[in-house]
Amino acid sequence: MGILFFFYSLVCFLLVISESFSSSSVMMHHVCSPTEAFALLHFKQFFQISDQPRCLDETDMQYERHVDIPKTKSWNESRDCCSWDGVTCDMLTGHVIGLDLSCSLLNGAIHPNSSLFQLHHLRTLNLAYNELYSSSIPHNIGRLRNLRHLNLSHSFFEGEIPTEISYLSNLVSLELFCYGCELDERTFETILQNFTNLEVLSLYDVNISSPIPVNISSSLRYVDLGRTYLRGVLTESFFLLPKLERLYLRDNDLLKGVLPKIHPSNTLLELDISSTGISGELPDSIGTFSSLNILDMWGCQLSGHIPDSVGNLTQIRYLDFSNNHFTGHIPSTISKLKQLTFLGLSSNSFSGEIPDIFSNLQELSYLYLRNSSFIGSFPSTIVSLTQLQRLDLSYNSLNGTIPSLVFSLPLLSLLWLEHNKFSGLANEFKTNSTLEHLYLSHNQLSGSFLQSLASLTNLSTLDLSSNNITVDEGIQITFPSLEVLLLSSCELKDFPHFLTNVKKLQILDISNNKIRGQIPNWFSGIRWDNLSYLNLSHNSLTGHLPQFHFYNLRYLDLKFNSLQGPLPATICNMNNLTFLDLSRNNFNNSIPSCWGSMTSLIVLNLRRNNFAGSLPPLCAKSTSLMSTIVLNDNHFEGTLPVSLLNCSGLEVLDMGNNAINDTFPAWLGTLQQLQVLILKSNVFHGPISTCQSTFCFPKLRIFDLSRNEFSGSLPAKNFGNFKAMIKLDGKDTGEIKYMEPFLRSLYPSYEDSVSLVIKGQDIELERISTIMTTIDLSSNHFEGVIPKTLKDLSSLWLLNLSHNNLIGHIPMELGQLNRLEALDLSWNRLTGKIPQELTKLTFLEKLNLSQNVLVGPIPHGPQFNTFENDSYGGNLDLCGSPLSKQCGTSDPSHVPQPLESEDESYFFSGFTWESVVIGYSCGLVVGTVVWSFMFKYRKPEWFVEFFEGIYPKKMRRSMKRAQRLRT
Ligand SMILES: *[C@@H]1O[C@H](CO)[C@@H](O)[C@H](O)[C@H]1NC(C)=O
Ligand SMILES: *[C@@H]1O[C@H](CO)[C@@H](O)[C@H](O)[C@H]1NC(C)=O
Ligand SMILES: *[C@@H]1O[C@H](CO)[C@@H](O)[C@H](O)[C@H]1NC(C)=O
Ligand SMILES: *[C@@H]1O[C@H](CO)[C@@H](O)[C@H](O)[C@H]1NC(C)=O
Repeated sequence: MGILFFFYSLVCFLLVISESFSSSSVMMHHVCSPTEAFALLHFKQFFQISDQPRCLDETDMQYERHVDIPKTKSWNESRDCCSWDGVTCDMLTGHVIGLDLSCSLLNGAIHPNSSLFQLHHLRTLNLAYNELYSSSIPHNIGRLRNLRHLNLSHSFFEGEIPTEISYLSNLVSLELFCYGCELDERTFETILQNFTNLEVLSLYDVNISSPIPVNISSSLRYVDLGRTYLRGVLTESFFLLPKLERLYLRDNDLLKGVLPKIHPSNTLLELDISSTGISGELPDSIGTFSSLNILDMWGCQLSGHIPDSVGNLTQIRYLDFSNNHFTGHIPSTISKLKQLTFLGLSSNSFSGEIPDIFSNLQELSYLYLRNSSFIGSFPSTIVSLTQLQRLDLSYNSLNGTIPSLVFSLPLLSLLWLEHNKFSGLANEFKTNSTLEHLYLSHNQLSGSFLQSLASLTNLSTLDLSSNNITVDEGIQITFPSLEVLLLSSCELKDFPHFLTNVKKLQILDISNNKIRGQIPNWFSGIRWDNLSYLNLSHNSLTGHLPQFHFYNLRYLDLKFNSLQGPLPATICNMNNLTFLDLSRNNFNNSIPSCWGSMTSLIVLNLRRNNFAGSLPPLCAKSTSLMSTIVLNDNHFEGTLPVSLLNCSGLEVLDMGNNAINDTFPAWLGTLQQLQVLILKSNVFHGPISTCQSTFCFPKLRIFDLSRNEFSGSLPAKNFGNFKAMIKLDGKDTGEIKYMEPFLRSLYPSYEDSVSLVIKGQDIELERISTIMTTIDLSSNHFEGVIPKTLKDLSSLWLLNLSHNNLIGHIPMELGQLNRLEALDLSWNRLTGKIPQELTKLTFLEKLNLSQNVLVGPIPHGPQFNTFENDSYGGNLDLCGSPLSKQCGTSDPSHVPQPLESEDESYFFSGFTWESVVIGYSCGLVVGTVVWSFMFKYRKPEWFVEFFEGIYPKKMRRSMKRAQRLRT
């Protein structure tokens, strides 16, 4: 009985158990294994919920637009982990097999031993679009051997991708869009070769720096190796893959080779090799990619003719051949590509007229034919492209009249026609044009035709610069949407009166016209709340500067006019003013005392006016952003304001040609960014004191104290601080060079100029080249010897110590200044021989040792053989060529003639400094500052549109991608 009861109980028990099991497997309650639930909760603990959405505006070719959801918030012990957001379980075993935490606002770092790696059954792991700053991908990732899909993109991982990732040989997709990650060559090879199920591989931005392996897994469908620093030669491997649909190799300029001449599989849908070093001709076989939708070859090194066979790419929607070296004619077969929405043929060397290939391309939305040497008239078939949104025909030699029908295109919003030879514009546009941006600068348009543009009511940007345009006084145009109006270098004689109707203006440039007289009251009375840029420079404006009502003005350029009188105190009300250039006017009086409140100024140029009195309180606030201060050629007096110490970002300080009476401002040495210090032609006096702090003038490149009353010995110790001169810091110049065109177009007339005596010519440098390093201490009362420490300034380009009281020998160590191009030691009391070592100065172009007490033979050497008599005049005991006095004789009749005047220019006359300066000019010193400043603020929409054509390459790329998505 007992036993029976026991059996009965056992059976019941088993029944209950099996009941509860079966019901739970149907209803999915509590199947999650407690250890896995615990592992997930433990993992969650390490993260905060970020308040920065990462996916809101993220669009990418593979990704839909996402929203950010803090998925881990729903995770808690009271519910089964299989029901948590982002968690997927195997219905039968209950194991967690999927974890999708993409766009989950995770903020934190993944611990190397994170409990995440205990989830051995995971098949899918997606952590994309989170903020996992300063996490490297943990080695333990290799423990998740069952992974099929791994996505760690856009989550700020960094450092080495662990080699353990090569254990994940079952992966079907691997996505590691990761800036700052590195992948070693062997692991890369293993992934590409040995992952035999791999279909999707995205390593965009990962630094791989290796060649592409020859054997590649044939399962691949999608490969993105963009910007991975791939090296070596593009082989046929990819093109032989039987399933490959999408191949992106863009932005790998070290990747060389030619496109293979093979007849590849027809599966390829998208091919992007843009911005790579791929060269050679486009093979005929390109036409066999008959299913291609996207072919992007922007910015390669391709040459030769575009083959007719491109006409076989009948599925193509996006075709970009821009920025290559293609020649010949555009093949007429392109007219067969009826699906095209984007066609880019810009910046090649095509010849002849633009062929008539467009009438069939009725889907075309974007057409770029910029800068390709086209001649002839506006291609008439373009006006039938009713889907056209953007048309770029700029920088060609097109002539004749711009047809009015182009303004009737129902969707056209951007039209670039600048830099052509168009001479006329159709008289009237009847339509309600959609055009928003119209660029017509640098053409041959003439007369007064603005009225005919009146119907372009959506126009936001109008660029008519550099044409022979006049504006009739009487015309009445409203331009209700106009934000940017560029009319520089036209034939304007007055301020265009219709501006009173243009309410939304942000940028106005009427510089370089023939506007005379006072700034009219109606103009200064306009309230333009949005105006941020005003350029009235290079006109003939007279009278006083009125009070403007443009309180958001950032950039005000009035240079090269004849404005006069004191500045109105109201100028200080422009709280956002960043650039102020009043140079080359006749302003006088002292600077208003409210000046100190202008805290946003970055560039101030008052050169060549009649300002007087003590210097304004520059950088009065400690938050000052000042980068350039040029007060040269005024009548300022008194001492340098100590407030300059607040200018911690100051790069250029030019106080030359004033009447400043002070001692040497050694305290400026603490300004760590200072590159240019010009104090010349003032009444600075006394010895050059040594700067007290450790890093003095570390970036100084131009140091000009000439024509003052300085005395004492040369500042040997200070020279040792000029770190920038000791080593050419080539590191940032590349960057500046790259930015400069952009900056110059943004502020077209802005010049960061200083004036210097370069090789004897008093010149004004438009841009300060970073290679120019000069020391000019001439025309003072310095005494003592030339310090040997000068030899350390190895990047010195120009050294002028003339017109002082220096004694002793010319140190032979100066022969180590191997970049020196000009050396002037004239008008001192130097003795001894000219050191033979100076012949090592192979770049030396100008040498002046005249008016000293040098003796002995003139050395011979490559450069020395080019100098003439006047390099040595007035040294009675020098001998040898080029002087007529022979060495070893002492015939007094051969003494060279003493110099007739102190004027230096005789000596250097004929020297063209321009060639040197322009040849070297690497960029604006202020470039970086302005650049970073510009990007601190969100760019307005017009800004993006307006400068699209001249964007730096990198930005243009991302913009193109956005365009592509819209199509
Ligand atoms: C990858 O496969 C090759 C042969 O295809 C083999 O020689 C190599 O050892 C494999 N590498 C790894 C890491 O499994
Ligand atoms: C491809 O284009 C070329 C030149 O236009 C043509 O001769 C050839 O027949 C085309 N091939 C196919 C398969 O259509
Ligand atoms: C336009 O240019 C073409 C080719 O240079 C020339 O033949 C033609 O006469 C020009 N037309 C006009 C209107 O200037
Ligand atoms: C111009 O366009 C606006 C808005 O698109 C529309 O309301 C208006 O009727 C149009 N005018 C003409 C003359 O087509």
